Amino acid sequence: MAQTWLITGTSTGFGQELATLLAQKTDVNLVATARNTDKLAYLDQYDHGQILKLELDVTDSQQIKEVIQTTLSKFGRIDVLDNNAGLGYFSTFEEADEATVQYMFDVNFWGSVHLTQAVLPVMRQQKSGVIIGISSDAGLIGEAALSFYSGTKFALEGVFESLAQEVQEDNIKVMLVEPSSFRTDWAGRSSQKKETAFLDDYQVTNAAIQNYSDSAGNEAGNPQAAAQVIYEQVISNTEHLPLHLPLGEMSVTRAQKKFAGLARKFAQLSDLAISTDYSKEE
Ligand SMILES: NC(=O)c1ccc[n+]([C@@H]2O[C@H](COP(=O)([O-])OP(=O)(O)OC[C@H]3O[C@@H](n4cnc5c(N)ncnc54)[C@H](OP(=O)(O)O)[C@@H]3O)[C@@H](O)[C@H]2O)c1
Repeated sequence: MAQTWLITGTSTGFGQELATLLAQKTDVNLVATARNTDKLAYLDQYDHGQILKLELDVTDSQQIKEVIQTTLSKFGRIDVLDNNAGLGYFSTFEEADEATVQYMFDVNFWGSVHLTQAVLPVMRQQKSGVIIGISSDAGLIGEAALSFYSGTKFALEGVFESLAQEVQEDNIKVMLVEPSSFRTDWAGRSSQKKETAFLDDYQVTNAAIQNYSDSAGNEAGNPQAAAQVIYEQVISNTEHLPLHLPLGEMSVTRAQKKFAGLARKFAQLSDLAISTDYSKEE
């Protein structure tokens, strides 16, 4: 039986690469969604009735409902949901524009949450499914210039890690993908920053923002290779799907450093932490 994959944000980047890969598989029905479906013409050469191109802005709850209904009418099931759509925002924490931050949460966090909540009844009825959250290494590690972007991804990590435990009994798997810097449109057109410089006091943050701008288009990560790894994990490793999937060398080394340091620190603080519990007799 063909597997039905639903992906958000397939106009460029990771979403486009995964959609291109899936469109060429004989046993996949693909629901490629985008805010503007004109940007999905790249899929036409592969389409022999197994591809649905649907308009979806993940902040629009009516469109979410319609996409799910149309998918079920055409393919009857949803096996894999890839919450990929997302954007960034470079700023100091102090000077961040709240409306911009809230919109980023609407897309990166609430968009993934609402779509997943809408797909879960389908997967529970099927007693199977895979939910992917395209998080980031910034969802594990805080970093100057990306405070609120990190906030959206930490939030996603928290809810999806908990969700994974809740849906286990219905044979639904959750995978958080944590890429480091990849060559997509993310650091360019998909990440806002204000025109004028940030406060002079924030030298480190200003340098980090400049560095992101300078390296846009030359990131180490290859999104085509990332799409292949995501696909293979879902297809070949379904039973043991990793809850956390780092992609890119930096995502592994940075996370290993953080968590090894945290483990060491917690070992040092363990007696102190335990001293705040009631004694066993109380
Ligand atoms: N590239 C990296 O270095 C990197 C690293 C870690 C995580 N990520 C994450 O990877 C995901 C994909 O980003 P990317 O790197 O592939 O960047 P990208 O090339 O800029 O792609 C972002 C996609 O999200 C879509 N999008 C933005 N707002 C949307 C909305 N309201 N509704 C629906 N779609 C929306 C964009 O559509 P439009 O064409 O309409 O703008 C585009 O298709 C994001 O969640 C990002 O945070 C990226």
